[in-house]
Amino acid sequence: MNVTVVDHPLVQHKLAILRDKNTGSKDFRELMAEVSMLMAYEAMRDLELDPVTIETPLTRMEARMLSGKKLALVAILRAGLIMVDGILRLVPAARVGHIGLYRDPQTLNPVEYYAKLPEDIRGRRVFLTDPMLATAGSAVHAIQVLKNSGAQHIKLMSIIAAPEGIARVEREHPDVEVVVAAIDDHLNDHGYIVPGLGDAGDRIYGTK
Ligand code: URA
Repeated sequence: MNVTVVDHPLVQHKLAILRDKNTGSKDFRELMAEVSMLMAYEAMRDLELDPVTIETPLTRMEARMLSGKKLALVAILRAGLIMVDGILRLVPAARVGHIGLYRDPQTLNPVEYYAKLPEDIRGRRVFLTDPMLATAGSAVHAIQVLKNSGAQHIKLMSIIAAPEGIARVEREHPDVEVVVAAIDDHLNDHGYIVPGLGDAGDRIYGTK
């Protein structure tokens, strides 16, 4: 299975506060960004390093730094933005793309209303952010947008996933690795993840 669960005490602790319905928007935003940063630590474990010679105050040494391979963080609007904010604290030189999708009320299919990606996305390692991987309709569509633009190495980062969402990404995009902080029990009839944390976008932006 192409799925990594970042099962770390710090992540689980912050996730418990995120799930709590009494957590307000300010704390919710900060915690979403922090959890995303901690997840990125794991998601970026396989980034390549190059040897570099540096001088410490004591001697010359061969150290290792990230190779020139470039990164792109791509947010699915709107809830994915907060994850990008957190990850940018770790990799401030990454380029940022945005994909805006809404769900057609009749067909329930995702409809793209905005897409702006780094021009050279083909040569970048892409980290796509979507905090709640529910039916995965938006995620599989966004992955296709990325592939159509030439992206070749894509990881999907979601804070909470439903088993149904993971199964769909694996089925439709088996080459895409998925990194999550938790896999929850199921989707309810309204497409919400249970137990989940509610509507991530509304809780981030206080729109409910
Ligand atoms: N989107 C959310 O914000 N929450 C869910 O539980 C499912 C989709």
